Amino acid sequence: MNTEHLISTFVEYFEERGHRRILGSTLLPPPGDPVLFTTSGMHPLTPYLEGRPHPLGSRLVDVQRCLRTTDLEEVGDATHLTVFEMLGTWSLGDYDGPLSLDWGYGLLTEGLGVDPGLLYATVHGGDNRTDQDTASLRLWQDKGVPVELTAEDNWWSNGPVGPCGPDSEIFLWSGEGPPRSTPTRDDRWVEVWNHVTMSHRRLDDGSLVPLPRRNVDTGLGLERLASLLQGKPSVFECDVFDPWRRLVPPLWHLDESSLHIVCDHLRSAVVVLGDGVRPAGTGRGYVLRRLVRRVLTLLWRDDPSRGVGDLPQELVRHTLDHFRQDMPPGDVLVHLIEEEQRFRRLLERGRQVLARPRFRGLLTEEDLHYLHDTHGLPRDLVTTLRQE
Ligand code: SER
Repeated sequence: MNTEHLISTFVEYFEERGHRRILGSTLLPPPGDPVLFTTSGMHPLTPYLEGRPHPLGSRLVDVQRCLRTTDLEEVGDATHLTVFEMLGTWSLGDYDGPLSLDWGYGLLTEGLGVDPGLLYATVHGGDNRTDQDTASLRLWQDKGVPVELTAEDNWWSNGPVGPCGPDSEIFLWSGEGPPRSTPTRDDRWVEVWNHVTMSHRRLDDGSLVPLPRRNVDTGLGLERLASLLQGKPSVFECDVFDPWRRLVPPLWHLDESSLHIVCDHLRSAVVVLGDGVRPAGTGRGYVLRRLVRRVLTLLWRDDPSRGVGDLPQELVRHTLDHFRQDMPPGDVLVHLIEEEQRFRRLLERGRQVLARPRFRGLLTEEDLHYLHDTHGLPRDLVTTLRQE
C-alpha cells in the first residue's frame, strides 16, 4: 500500500464515521504562537481543543505536515524524520477515547490488514494527575491486545502550556520473528498511533485545569506506518523516498546513514522554503540554515566540489507537489545555492581563523565555543577543517 492509498483509506474510514476532512495547514503556526513550527497534527487546532466551536463540527480528520527539531539528532535511524506527515482525527467534546481506540484497531486490522498479533498498546496507569485509564485498558483486553501501563510515557502535551492529557499508544512489532518483550523495553515495538484524551490545560504557572469538555486527539505517523506496511526496515525505504533513493546515490556516494540524513534534511529544507521561510541567523530561518549546512558538511567531508546545485529539479518538484506547494522548483534551488555560497565564504574565513597561532594546538572547549559563537563555525566543521 503506497502512502497516497494509505491517506485515502484513513480519511475515508473516518468520513464514513461522521468526520469532516479539514485542510492541513502549513508548517508555520499562526502569529503569536510561541513555537517555531507545527510539531503535531493537533497544533493548528489548539483553539478548538480549548473550547472554541469548529465551523465543520465536532468530528474532524486531516493530514498535517509537521517539523520536529527535537528529533534532529535521531534522524538517520529507522523511524525519525525532520519533516513528516501526521494523519489525525479529533473528537471535539463528541465521542470518547475507547471508541477512538476501537475504530483505530478496526482500521489497522481490517482496513489496512495488520496482523492483530503484532500489536501492543500502552495505557495510562494513573498518577497524581489522573486515575488509571480503566476504560481503555478494558477495551484492549476485550480485543486481546497486550497492554503495558505507564505514567510519564502516557501523558501527552504539545509543550509546557496548553491542552494535554492521558493517552493510549498503539505499537506495531517491526522485528524478525514473533513479538517479544514490551514497548518500553524493546524498541522494535514502533509507536504508530497515539490517541490522546485532551482532558486538561496546563497554565503558565504549571498548574493543570480541566478543559470545559473532553476531546480526543489522535495522530498517526504516515511514513512510519507506510514503511511497516510495505515491509521496509526504515522510513527512508517507504515509497515517499523512492525518487530520492533513485536519484541521490548516483549523484553522491554516501554511506547509508549519511544518505538518510542528506535526503531527510534536503527534503525538509525544500518544504520549509516552500512554506516561505528563508535562511537566517535566528528562529525558523536558523533551523533551515542548520539543515542545509548539515547536509553540506556531510557532502564535503568526501568531496568539497559537491553542491546543492547538483540536486535534480525533479526531486524538488516531487517534494513541492507532494506537499501542494506552489513555489517554482528553480527558486528553491536558487535559495539553496545562495545558502551554500554563504557557507563556503564562512568556511574560507574559518580556515583563516584556524590558521592563527592560538588555534594551532589542541582546541579546548572554550576555543570551540568561541569559534562557534563568534565566527559561526560548528564543532563538526572545525573538526573537518582541522583534518584538511
Ligand atoms: N498529539 C498527539 C501526538 O502528536 C496525537 O495526535 O502524538
